[in-house]
Amino acid sequence: MTNKLKYFIGNWKMFGDFSSFKIIYKINQYIYKEKNFNKKKIVLCVPNTLIHFFQKKLKSKLISLGAQNCHYHETYGPFTGSVSASMLKKIGAEYIILGHSENRLEGETNQIKKKKIISALNQKLHVIFCIGETYKEKSKGKTFSILRKQIKSSLNKKFIKNKIILAYEPVWSIGTNKIPKKSVLQNTIKFIKKDFRKIFKTNKSPKVLYGGSVNHQSIGLLSSISEIDGFLIGSASQSAKKFIDIVKNYYK
Ligand code: PGA
Repeated sequence: MTNKLKYFIGNWKMFGDFSSFKIIYKINQYIYKEKNFNKKKIVLCVPNTLIHFFQKKLKSKLISLGAQNCHYHETYGPFTGSVSASMLKKIGAEYIILGHSENRLEGETNQIKKKKIISALNQKLHVIFCIGETYKEKSKGKTFSILRKQIKSSLNKKFIKNKIILAYEPVWSIGTNKIPKKSVLQNTIKFIKKDFRKIFKTNKSPKVLYGGSVNHQSIGLLSSISEIDGFLIGSASQSAKKFIDIVKNYYK
């Protein structure tokens, strides 16, 4: 058992309404009862429509709320339908997921990701920056070169200090119930940390989460990989029971 802080970050995606507060409420109740909770950080990244409502109702310091994307323009601007990092910060977001592969599919480039990351960090949001290869890239043995490219072209030495957390999410693992083999995952996480240090000439490793089909079953194997600093949890975070089961089964 390690003493390092582990992150359990929920990515609700396009899910939830005001009645979904009951999910957060139950998770919060559970955290109050669990011992050792100072070693686990819970963050729920919910739709923008819910952040302020949940934040007002929650009255708890044990769960932080986050958003899942923002426009690259930092404040107000002529961008119909968009929301900026400063607007999210004002309504109570503390974290933000950026660069998710589902946004990449909609045309988000590494350059756009970079601008979004800078905006979010300027607004003092904690950025969870997603990287990961597709199945095709993996089959061609390109995983490491793709990860290097994503890190190099979207991050900047000036902005990497404290608030960036990387989330390694193999695209082929998202929503498929498939996770990488233990040795492969261990090597990939080590590679990300090492390459990051090399690219940005720093001796400080970033926090690296794993995301993709994290659930009460896969968490057993994932717990045994000490290089992983936490988890980005998609569909299983939309249910209080499933989310709590992951936290409970961690290290069981
Ligand atoms: P999943 O999604 O846990 O449903 O696989 C993870 C994610 O997309 O962040």
